[in-house]
Amino acid sequence: MSSKTVISNQDLFGELDPSPRLLMGPGPVDVYPRVLRAMSAPMLGQFDPEFTGYMNEVMELYRRVYQTRNHWTLLVNGTARSGIEACLGSLVSPGDKVLVPRFGRFGHLLTEICGRVGGEIHTIDTEWGSVFPVEQIADEVRRGQPKVLAMVHGDTSTTMAQPLAGLAETCLETGTLFFADATATLGGMPFNVDGWGIDAAAAGLQKCMSGPPGTSPVTLSDRAAKAVNRRKHIEVGIRPDGYVGAAGPPISSNYLDLGMLMDYWSPKRLNHHTESTSMLYAARECARVVLEEGLEASFERHALSNRALRAGLIAMGLELFGDPDNRMVNVTGVMIPKACGNGEKVRAEMLDDFGIEIGTSFGHLAGKIWRIGVMGNVCRKPNILRCLASLEVVLRRNGYDVRSNSGVDAAYDAYSGAAN
Ligand SMILES: Cc1ncc(COP(=O)(O)O)c(C=O)c1O
Repeated sequence: MSSKTVISNQDLFGELDPSPRLLMGPGPVDVYPRVLRAMSAPMLGQFDPEFTGYMNEVMELYRRVYQTRNHWTLLVNGTARSGIEACLGSLVSPGDKVLVPRFGRFGHLLTEICGRVGGEIHTIDTEWGSVFPVEQIADEVRRGQPKVLAMVHGDTSTTMAQPLAGLAETCLETGTLFFADATATLGGMPFNVDGWGIDAAAAGLQKCMSGPPGTSPVTLSDRAAKAVNRRKHIEVGIRPDGYVGAAGPPISSNYLDLGMLMDYWSPKRLNHHTESTSMLYAARECARVVLEEGLEASFERHALSNRALRAGLIAMGLELFGDPDNRMVNVTGVMIPKACGNGEKVRAEMLDDFGIEIGTSFGHLAGKIWRIGVMGNVCRKPNILRCLASLEVVLRRNGYDVRSNSGVDAAYDAYSGAAN
């Protein structure tokens, strides 16, 4: 190498060394150490029988996490949005009617995705901080007879959870496919695919599953899989001899084509992308951790930690955001007190001085609420107490009058007698 091309150590920046943080925003959250260890396992070739064996195990593990017998339960490589886009882009053909009831930012995302693939969108809206009565959604489905009903389960932007049980019968009557985004609730709140008659669902790992962002578990009912396969067009270079494409319009994305992805995840192993090996290891380990604890136990741990957090916030005189009957269990919206302006200085001091991240908000809630997430591996008593104690100090330094130890004491009380 000539002296001109020598790169100094300064140009290489520092060795990656992220500061220790406690991630108590709306996600991503701290990753289970077992998951980080699984991610450092060696690569395997994508058709190595050992690796395809792991793919099959992932399918089985996520059937249990999703509470479904759906055969087509697999990973889409990319963040949760990729799984959402794969489901909706594969189900919604140009001109198909889609109903999107919106109660936060992520309902707008579903609208945008369905619109981009040519869906004829009908939306209903409710004020942020509230959700829809299930009967209202069912009436809209009966009235509009959409091909797809697309809903968010827990919308982290507003911290509200939409009840989804009770829609399946209407969707069956009208031939509507029912899609739900479980990104923020899977593993932390009940999300019962078969019990609620959901035809397609997508999620990420970086919330209650306590993994890194980067792969999206999705599940499809047989009805949904048939609808996708009516549009299946295998890409030219890998078509088997004599192949004839399906009659329906091709899915517009190649990468997010669930028809081809199902072939890749079937015994045919028809080559699509290269499965993201380390993310598959992560997804597999996330599911093993959650199922080893037990879904019900995981839901209860999330509920208890968040009850304790909320008791502490209320004891500090803070007001919680949104309809109390329909709050997500795992993310809490907190009204920013007047003394703290738009809340950004408090967030910065929580991060810089205590290493704790809490969330800001979007749209018209920006500067009005903080969002505190307690999910996955973070969902433990020491973290709740640390967060409340730190917040008390920071709030006081920012001019908000708070009684000493009120938050921590109330959280202790919430935990007393409960296993944590
Ligand atoms: C409800 C919901 N849906 C979708 C997403 C998008 O997920 P990702 O950023 O992993 O694509 C998020 C992320 O916060 C979310 O909370």
